[in-house]
Amino acid sequence: MGFNPLKEEGTDLEKQFRNWSSLNLQPYDKYTVEPYTRCRVILMNGTEFESQWFLHHFARHTTDAELKQQLARVRRVEQQQQKAIASLIPGNETVLEQTIGYEQVAVDLTAYLARTEPDPYVKSVLDFGLLEDFDHLYRYANLLDMLEGKKAEDLVGRLTEITPGRPTIAEHRHPFDGVRKPFDKDKADILTKLHVHTIVAAEQQTMNYYMNRVQDYADPLARGLYQEIGMIEEQHVSQYESLADPSCSWFEMWVIHEYNECYLYYSMMSQETDARIKKLWEQHLIMEIEHLHSAVDAMKTYEKRDASEFLPDALPHLTLFESNIDYIRDILKNQIDLTAKETEFVPVESLPEDYRYFDYQQKINIDGNVPSQRVIDKHIEEYGREYRLELRGPHPVERFRELEATSK
Ligand SMILES: [Fe+2]
Ligand SMILES: [Fe+2]
Ligand SMILES: [Fe+2]
Ligand SMILES: [Fe+2]
Repeated sequence: MGFNPLKEEGTDLEKQFRNWSSLNLQPYDKYTVEPYTRCRVILMNGTEFESQWFLHHFARHTTDAELKQQLARVRRVEQQQQKAIASLIPGNETVLEQTIGYEQVAVDLTAYLARTEPDPYVKSVLDFGLLEDFDHLYRYANLLDMLEGKKAEDLVGRLTEITPGRPTIAEHRHPFDGVRKPFDKDKADILTKLHVHTIVAAEQQTMNYYMNRVQDYADPLARGLYQEIGMIEEQHVSQYESLADPSCSWFEMWVIHEYNECYLYYSMMSQETDARIKKLWEQHLIMEIEHLHSAVDAMKTYEKRDASEFLPDALPHLTLFESNIDYIRDILKNQIDLTAKETEFVPVESLPEDYRYFDYQQKINIDGNVPSQRVIDKHIEEYGREYRLELRGPHPVERFRELEATSK
């Protein structure tokens, strides 16, 4: 029998508040940290961010004073958890270095979720988003090389390739084509629900990060690139959040949030290589078990519903960080030319000429001054070639090999 957080005992909520020294932890060493440890820190920081904001929104939608107090207490703990996790990020890691970490999370998390996703439609949405974040990694890696003289391969650790994905310039679509079909909460596999919650938290964290960090660079090209990719992260958050069944009650959403936190801490703990950080994941898991009990109890009290009706007896297949190079190459080969039409994915060339995609593209890319293109052109101008990290031979799509060949 696997791990069932519903049957485990957590830490009493009143004992979960921590003092300042246990929140302000020793950061990891950016020169020796394992790439996927950095990724786990980014993901869990984003997960806690989502948790506390969800609990704020819930509190804003209830008139029940006692429930507001219950939410405030759990939310205070979520904030402390976020502080502890964020304190692991060292002050000498630059915004661009962190950005490479963010996009590595987006690539390897999305690929892993897609590979393990039981619902074919949700899988297709993940595959679609995957190729876009994959391209962001390549654009930022070129900027990092030019601006800071650093190679992104030292950050991603040769676990993730860096080469063009679906070109960022082609990712800009009319907002109507960013909305997807929701799963049905009564029919969806628990893994689908957890995957959707996880990817929303991760993409939202990235979106917020770019919204707030765009001004950290003086270089106009860097500022432009953060703006442009930030707009795609808005599309990604819209896409992934629309997968969740909107008919879930606030209590059901709360239970799923806490269950997902248990699931993710258990997953992160199971593969963490840094013993000190592994302990933190474990400590937070025990806290989350109690949060889950609180949410389940609230559902029982307010809705007379038993959460075990929609939660499994054991955690499903874990979410892990691992290299997905061959999987991504396969998706690149077969899906690079897709775009979205309403809720479906179709080849760009199948769109009618007057489709809103072209109109939107025309509006925003009209003067040819597109940062995601300029960053590559500029790299070629300065160094005679673009920055790539291709570990299994040339790009799987022939058309994307040319640039490098002509620039050498
Ligand atoms: Fe939490
Ligand atoms: Fe991205
Ligand atoms: Fe993204
Ligand atoms: Fe929680």
